[in-house]
Amino acid sequence: MSKTKKEPQEKTLQEEIVDVCLRRGIVFPTAEIYGGAAGFYDYGPVGTMIRQNIINLFRETFINSEDNIYEISTSTVLPESVFKASGHVKSFHDPLTQCNKCKSMHRADHLIEASLGLNAEGKSNDELFALISENGIKCPTCKKGELDPPREFNMMLKTNIGPVDGNTAYLRPETAQNIFINFRRIAHSMRAKLPFGIAQVGKAYRNEISPRNFLVRLREFEQMELEMFVDPDELNNHPRFEEIEDVEIRFLSQEAQDKGEDPSTITIKEGVEKNLIYNQYIGYYMAIESLFLQNLGIPEDKFRFRHLMPKETAHYSKANYDLEIIFPFGIVECIGLAYRTDYDLLKHQEISGMKMHIDVEGKKVIPHVIEPSLGVDRLLYAVLLNSYIKEERKWTWFKFSNSLAPWVVLVTPLQRKDGLPEEANNLFWEIKDYGIEAIYDQTGAI
Ligand code: GAP
Repeated sequence: MSKTKKEPQEKTLQEEIVDVCLRRGIVFPTAEIYGGAAGFYDYGPVGTMIRQNIINLFRETFINSEDNIYEISTSTVLPESVFKASGHVKSFHDPLTQCNKCKSMHRADHLIEASLGLNAEGKSNDELFALISENGIKCPTCKKGELDPPREFNMMLKTNIGPVDGNTAYLRPETAQNIFINFRRIAHSMRAKLPFGIAQVGKAYRNEISPRNFLVRLREFEQMELEMFVDPDELNNHPRFEEIEDVEIRFLSQEAQDKGEDPSTITIKEGVEKNLIYNQYIGYYMAIESLFLQNLGIPEDKFRFRHLMPKETAHYSKANYDLEIIFPFGIVECIGLAYRTDYDLLKHQEISGMKMHIDVEGKKVIPHVIEPSLGVDRLLYAVLLNSYIKEERKWTWFKFSNSLAPWVVLVTPLQRKDGLPEEANNLFWEIKDYGIEAIYDQTGAI
């Protein structure tokens, strides 16, 4: 019997990008020489520069373009009391189901999404189990086992502070909580008046049930968050609203989702006036996020804003507007935008006993919070996918936007004679002295 020769399968775009990332030292698995650790990735020299440029652009767009935003840098480990107060100990969980044969663990709502193509986020465990049973969904690992009824799995990574047991702490699942617990000190030290914002760029950790899709679902990732503190009476009085009110966005309302319709294009002004967008501050940050994405080099038709359905909305939020990017394998939330109201400050005031109000003309006001929350890793992946070019040259390449390119100038002597290497090297240092990112390559060939 002759062996049938297997046709080499063409790589998917996702596989190609992962391959380039490994070869070019952009991103690679953490502890790769020991087989890696699911949900953890390291950034190499090129990846680190692109990542830093994304963070710089965040600072430029969200922090330095205003005169009332303060940036902080705080601890990633926090005592349990913080997360008891914030509600994360009780409510920050995902539905976990286990195969009764091979014992592999799966996130029930994602499994249903993959099998039936419907959004199951926010459904109760009973609803999820009913969908699994009615549709005969089997374990995706062994393909045979039945799946157990889902149970809640808390996503925070737990640790213990010091050598004595019982001092429970967690790696923060969002950078935001440090901002709320430091609110009083920052407000007082900066003599801040409402509205003002506190921003933070830093690591967050989630013990995801099934990390997947390269940089999309990680267990350690970088967030860039801004908590904007506003007098609740002023939520429809953003001082710069007029500057952005005509910005157009692609928007998927709750009603459109109920009817199974596609996103429609609206202006921010229209969205606020028709109560599709909760208030002017939310509208303002939708416009800023849209501008930010375009500066990252992600075209407008590749992303949209979706008003989350009540069941999908986080425990601390009254309304969420996710910025979702179209990836080759599906649509992914890359920026969250939440109206957190006074939820967090009130909870921390109640449990810590510290007053969290601001004095506004003799009134004690607990500010309301609007929170744009951006994930560096998902955005970087979206940038790579949208900048990868196969045409125009004989080789594949990344066409990064100006603000993201790791190097702006390449200096190479081309020939190793007549003092050209020395000249080129001097030029290289001169360019660097101007603060321009340059790279020197003495091998010479273009
Ligand atoms: N403070 C609000 C908050 O954390 P979120 O929607 O859970 O909101 C915000 O997260 C952003 O953080 C997401 O839009 C995403 O970019 C990023 N993110 C969340 N979980 C992630 C994960 N497991 N892996 C990579 N990025 C993640």
